[in-house]
Amino acid sequence: MDAHSTDTPHRRPVRSFVLREGRLTAAQERAFRELWPLHGIDWTPGEQIDLSTVFGSARPLVLEIGFGNGESLAEMAAADPDRNWLGIEVHRPGVGHLLLEIERRELTNLKVMRHDAVEVLAQGIAPGSLDAVQLFFPDPWPKRRHHKRRILSSQLIALLAKTIRPGGIFHAATDWEPYAEQMLEVLDGASDHFESTVGVGRYAPRPATRPLTKFEQRGERLGHPVHDLLYRRR
Ligand SMILES: C[S@@+](CC[C@H](N)C(=O)[O-])C[C@H]1O[C@@H](n2cnc3c(N)ncnc32)[C@H](O)[C@@H]1O
Repeated sequence: MDAHSTDTPHRRPVRSFVLREGRLTAAQERAFRELWPLHGIDWTPGEQIDLSTVFGSARPLVLEIGFGNGESLAEMAAADPDRNWLGIEVHRPGVGHLLLEIERRELTNLKVMRHDAVEVLAQGIAPGSLDAVQLFFPDPWPKRRHHKRRILSSQLIALLAKTIRPGGIFHAATDWEPYAEQMLEVLDGASDHFESTVGVGRYAPRPATRPLTKFEQRGERLGHPVHDLLYRRR
């Protein structure tokens, strides 16, 4: 059964995160007051988001799921002003941090949502409207009983197949080897919708456009090899 289905209200959905509120710094508090109205997207579940109105332009749109503190997302958006960028994250301090980065870098092509990205993909994004989706270092949920919380599942792939335009890209990266193997299996198994850019069963080299993220730097210190997976929507 679809874990996020709305027609099973008696069942709590299995989510890919546990909300830790965390304390906001004074700067992040200000960011929510002053910058959210400029760069944040308020969304009512069930409503389709009018992306060209939100961005004020109809440029190709890149979505990042779970951007953490958003530094690598802000860097990518700054380096690629010809596309619009949308970050979705549930963790408030991370959202506050990214709002401050948007202000610091004076970005006009990056917007932020604070929501479960799976729900947004399912209900808020028009079919075929994404140029690319990126998922960097998703929570690995290493314990077997938690594997059902891993965000990269056949349910997510179905939502990506619906929302990424033909020829668009899905890019994932992880430093958790068993999760990387699962990602390969799920993505290669979705060959009706996605084809690997480097060949079945293979990881891709890290594209130069992807900056090292905070989690990746930590993983590297711990000696975890990083795997990138790059697939094209058929
Ligand atoms: C391990 S962190 C990685 C953060 C960042 N991508 C990086 O590499 O530094 C995973 C992030 O995904 C977020 N997350 C998990 N599930 C999510 C969901 N369904 N929607 C939005 N964000 C989610 C978590 O709050 C967390 O910040």
